[in-house]
Amino acid sequence: METEAATTLAGRDVSQPLSKNSHLLRWVQKMADLTMPDSIHWVDGSQAEYDSLCAEMVEGGTFIKLNEDLWPGCFYARSDPNDVARVEDRTFVCSLSKDNAGPKNNWMDPFAMRKKLKGLFKGSMRGRTMYVLPFSMGPVNAPMSQIGVQLTDSPYAVVNMRIMTRIGIEVFKEIDKGIKRVVPCMHSVGAPLLGGRKDVPWPCNREKYIVHFPETREIWSYGSGYGGNALLGKKCFALRIASAIARDEGWMAEHMLILGIENPQGERTYVAAAFPSACGKTNLAMLIPPAAFDGWKIWTIGDDIAWLRPDENGRLHAINPETGFFGVAPGTSAKTNPSAMATLAKNTIFTNTALTPEGGVWWEGMTDQPPAECLDWRGNPWTPQIGKETGATAAHPNARFTAPATQCPSFLAEWETHNGFPISAIIFGGRRSATIPLVYQSFNWSSGVYIGATMGSETTAAATGTVGNVRRDPMAMLPFCGYHMGDYFRHWIQMQRSLTRTPRIFHVNWFLKGEDGKYLWPGFGENMRILKWIVDRVRGRAWAEETPIGWMPRYEDLEWTGLDLPREKFQQLQSFDRAAWRKEVLGHEELFIELHDHLPSEMVYERELLICRL
Ligand code: GTP
Ligand code: SPV
Ligand code: MN
Repeated sequence: METEAATTLAGRDVSQPLSKNSHLLRWVQKMADLTMPDSIHWVDGSQAEYDSLCAEMVEGGTFIKLNEDLWPGCFYARSDPNDVARVEDRTFVCSLSKDNAGPKNNWMDPFAMRKKLKGLFKGSMRGRTMYVLPFSMGPVNAPMSQIGVQLTDSPYAVVNMRIMTRIGIEVFKEIDKGIKRVVPCMHSVGAPLLGGRKDVPWPCNREKYIVHFPETREIWSYGSGYGGNALLGKKCFALRIASAIARDEGWMAEHMLILGIENPQGERTYVAAAFPSACGKTNLAMLIPPAAFDGWKIWTIGDDIAWLRPDENGRLHAINPETGFFGVAPGTSAKTNPSAMATLAKNTIFTNTALTPEGGVWWEGMTDQPPAECLDWRGNPWTPQIGKETGATAAHPNARFTAPATQCPSFLAEWETHNGFPISAIIFGGRRSATIPLVYQSFNWSSGVYIGATMGSETTAAATGTVGNVRRDPMAMLPFCGYHMGDYFRHWIQMQRSLTRTPRIFHVNWFLKGEDGKYLWPGFGENMRILKWIVDRVRGRAWAEETPIGWMPRYEDLEWTGLDLPREKFQQLQSFDRAAWRKEVLGHEELFIELHDHLPSEMVYERELLICRL
């Protein structure tokens, strides 16, 4: 290890504390007394530290170093087969009252939960190192940024967080100023090494608890080393805790990508889009326009999380609080997302993809031709034949890459220095094989909030559980809202009051299927055609037709050069089925009944208006 043990505290090796903040020092001590690690490592965030942690993980079997000629600076990890995705049923929002968590969150009495957690964390880091990992969501020192410190016994979490957030000494310096709130984030994989027992490649615990205390702004995560369960800056902080902070402070923390659309004249329009997990945010954020769009350019700003705040002129501005992409690997290819492929070509951590004999990675959809043989995400031999016979995929459907955002060719260079980008449009979108048309625009802000609030989507592998069921996923925030969903809708409605110009709101659905079960819309780069219409609508340059659900483009309102999509197919994509929509509204009603006593009246009126139009 680079950092040498500077002191011994209660028989424990402790590296030089990198902060003088007495609150922080006391908390670290208290948590070390609870979790009983063998040593404490204050994370400085340096490259040398990253390299040595990776080397240790290679040594211990957590990481496999990929072939340096093919995948420079890349590592490969296989998780425990029981630790492959977010665990929504083990995720809790423990507000003081159950009513504040709302019916869409798991809740437990915070006092009972604290007691439970104390028991779980007691001695949970024995035989391990506890890392003191300071991180900033958003540029260090920027007005919209928030700070957390994650105490974790997972070096995997540390190196992933180094890609995903800003960590290390500069953040300790910020903490030592004593001005900003620091959100404490406790994390243990829950696998103490007793009596010198040898470690496993992916330590975790069958029992998992992902717990949030919104009032005290605290996170406790136990039992998992995976993604959103373990990289606490991401879903736990930047969405669940931040959404509660944002409600109190008049801003918004959303599960949204941010992109800039530049036309050949150099005019830029910024949009944010909320799609549920594994429904296309990363792909849209990195879109490369088709050849017909000569001179157009998409700038990537964020692919998962947006913090939005009205500026002094009342325009909604967005920042991406992250610095990396924790992206879905399957389906990512040079054809569908060349920017993502360029981004993950080096300095990337792959989790649960397949491993090729050359020391490379592979996943379903990466190439037309699968490798003749490889090891699957469990480490078992896999061939296309085995795949055919057993139905087993080589990569887990929720296999992920962790890659630095700055490696993305379309990443906007001025993002760091910027105070956020003015958002002209918000796009909602779910994964729906029927009923919901390719694109439509809301009549106004409150009808747009209604569209977001009642959004439905088929479940994906990003969370454990059944895949393919349509569920209501309001604003793609169902698993991520840190308070009552009805109050969240009210917050959206009320945001209009602090805005002089509200973003226009749209809904898209790239996932309509024909009777043959195939996607009707080519998607990916071709989604540019929809983005252009959205830009033109926002700027008052494009036509639309009024329908019962909103404004829709006619065939002639979209740019079709270079894509052979017959008018009839477009009509199929944009078709509005009254009977199916009546059924759809019943789904809205079910959600509203659940939220009834917190539902803002605007939502009820919008539903009534929609029913009348149907
Ligand atoms: P999270 O990281 O879980 O929040 O996911 P995400 O919203 O960023 O989803 P992502 O862009 O990674 O896409 C998930 C899956 O959807 C991938 O397998 C993609 O290939 C697929 N996908 C994305 N965009 C499109 C599209 O336009 N059409 C179709 N058919 N599939 C798409
Ligand atoms: C999601 O599930 O929406 C993700 C992946 O972005 S995770 O970080 O695991 O939540
Ligand atoms: Mn996500």
